[in-house]
Amino acid sequence: MTEHIKIENDGGILILTMARPDKKNALTNAMYGALADAIQGAENDPAVRVVLIRGEGDMFTAGNDVGEFAAIATGQMQGERHVSRFLKSLAQSSRPLVAAVHGRAVGVGTTMLLHCDLVVLAENALLSTPFVNLALVPEAASSLLMPLRIGYARAFEMFALGEAVDAASALAWGIANRVVPLDRLDAEAKALAGRLARQPAGAVSTTKRLMRNPEMLMAQILAESERFAERLKTMEAREAFTAFAERRPPDFSKLAAT
Ligand code: COA
Repeated sequence: MTEHIKIENDGGILILTMARPDKKNALTNAMYGALADAIQGAENDPAVRVVLIRGEGDMFTAGNDVGEFAAIATGQMQGERHVSRFLKSLAQSSRPLVAAVHGRAVGVGTTMLLHCDLVVLAENALLSTPFVNLALVPEAASSLLMPLRIGYARAFEMFALGEAVDAASALAWGIANRVVPLDRLDAEAKALAGRLARQPAGAVSTTKRLMRNPEMLMAQILAESERFAERLKTMEAREAFTAFAERRPPDFSKLAAT
């Protein structure tokens, strides 16, 4: 367990809060483990009808902890990678997933939204997927789900250039259901989750199962993970992680195109 994930059940809504605000809710292995346990655990808990994911502090999440990426790349961090279990729990969840997003949602912070069934954004939300900026590749089946959701042109630009998309665009492109003022975010997301919780749960989960194909998603996640693991060990990635640690822009110009 980790103190960086808060878990509470509020009238059938399992609220999962990423709570590492001093590090912008950057996700560590332990945090992925706690999220995976909670989402998987909900499958066997009749008291959970909806799962709501949110973040504490001034943003949803800055994505995967970049220090842990670097530690994995250099072999300093070994053992079970809970991120795989987390992605699997998202792809296979029969419970409807709702996200309440404010401020930045970076990397997996954005790609997890593609697995959520209702996404509520605060007006200040900024979604970005700067995997390529870190010399990595998209994950969480986003290489399949993002172009399906918003079209190839927008998806490739989001991935390859890594620039943030604002709430209005995310709504217009179909990534989100609602944009609300920041001070209304939690109440609106909870109200929507509450409405879902009052619907017949069997019909909701069967509808979700008809609309999403967990087997296909898992196959894409596996293919991405293999490429991701290869990319983590490249000179490009080493330069990106070193630059992040040194708080300077990376310089990929001396690394040849392959
Ligand atoms: N991994 C590890 N630490 C992170 C982090 C991450 N993904 N994102 C932020 N942090 C840490 C910073 O290193 C800093 O730590 P420090 O106080 O010990 O120096 C602290 O969180 C605050 O971050 P800071 O950059 O000062 O906040 P900001 O509001 O100016 O900027 C971001 C926020 C999200 C724009 C910026 O932190 C960022 O770009 N983070 C990296 C995002 C990223 O590339 N994620 C991986 C995607 S695949």
